[in-house]
Amino acid sequence: MMRYSEFTQRVAGEGAAAWALHFEAVTAKRAGRDVIVLSIGDPEFNSPPAITEAAIAGLRAGNTHYADILGLPRARKAVAAQHSRLTGQQVGPENVAIVAGAQGGLFSTAMSILGPGDEVVVLEPMYVTYEATVQAGGATLIRVPLAAETGFRLDLVALKAAISPKTRAIFFATPNNPTGAVLNRAELEGIAALAKEHDLWVVADEVYSTIIFDGEHVSICSLPGMAERTVTINSLSKSHAMTGWRAGWIVGPQELIGHVGNLGLTNLYGLPPFIQDAAALALETVVPEVVEMRDAYLRRRDLTLAALGQLPGIICRAPAAGMFMLADVRGTGLSAGDYAWRLFRETGVAVLDATAFGKAAAGHVRISFAIDEATLAEACRRIATFTRGLGKAA
Ligand SMILES: Cc1ncc(COP(=O)(O)O)c(C=O)c1O
Repeated sequence: MMRYSEFTQRVAGEGAAAWALHFEAVTAKRAGRDVIVLSIGDPEFNSPPAITEAAIAGLRAGNTHYADILGLPRARKAVAAQHSRLTGQQVGPENVAIVAGAQGGLFSTAMSILGPGDEVVVLEPMYVTYEATVQAGGATLIRVPLAAETGFRLDLVALKAAISPKTRAIFFATPNNPTGAVLNRAELEGIAALAKEHDLWVVADEVYSTIIFDGEHVSICSLPGMAERTVTINSLSKSHAMTGWRAGWIVGPQELIGHVGNLGLTNLYGLPPFIQDAAALALETVVPEVVEMRDAYLRRRDLTLAALGQLPGIICRAPAAGMFMLADVRGTGLSAGDYAWRLFRETGVAVLDATAFGKAAAGHVRISFAIDEATLAEACRRIATFTRGLGKAA
């Protein structure tokens, strides 16, 4: 028997069960069945044509060689400029690493700041990959469950209680996936105070920061004393509907970027240059699609709330941001897993059992808005008919 590393165990994350439904739905759709997939956060929009054209032009011009490991100077400069403008934290290209998506940024950060014996405090519900990513760095995940009844708002007392002498970092996403909650300034100040008091890193995943409906996005890096301890992670995946391009970045202290560069030498070896030039263009210019897509997500959110908000047995948690809505389905008498599977089998609509995002989301399903309005409306009709049917059977 050949042996595998202990590392392979650490990256074999949980949450796989919930995805089984998603994969079955995708397979059924490919086979031509009448299936509506609301179980994934991959925008159905095409990437903005001007950005695609820039990548094609780059390919044709022979921009196909190795790029600088930490990113092309133009791309790092564009990220630094945009980050400074949007967050108020003044940074330069030396504070930027171009990585393979926000996920690449989370992984590189975890490998650079964590080690065995360390603990990482994470607000839950949390994005599914965090567990494996934190464990990849050798650290242990400490979950701070947030209550559905509060709209999954920050519980600062619980966060404080989760911090121990072993705590190295706090990871969170604002806006959050799957809850759509946006941390406000006061909440971020609370987190910042704890981070400073206990000398912790803060890893802020901001991939949904352009898709906000209620409230405003605040970056924790901009708060006093936070620049030296904050790693801000972002990408074009959601904001520009560019998930497959893998165009992401890290903004943080220069020393951290140096470590990420060493790591980059051993794996990515630089994002493709034609991708980086197109990504730089996306940040240097006003891309109208960004606002148009945000408006579309808002319409989809409102459409979904209007269709499902009054359904007996379901409590819709209106998201303040992002492309998902959590719905508590416990009132139907079914577990979220059973609800999702029966909904799929009986109507062809695939939603995700949100337990995949941690126990704090138990009893909820996650409905994605990454689909056109007409299809979403049809999915909502099927969900409503199915749910009313459950009530009658009871
Ligand atoms: C909160 C969050 N962070 C990171 C990612 C990964 O994004 P990227 O495509 O930039 O790797 C996602 C994707 O769904 C996400 O929801």
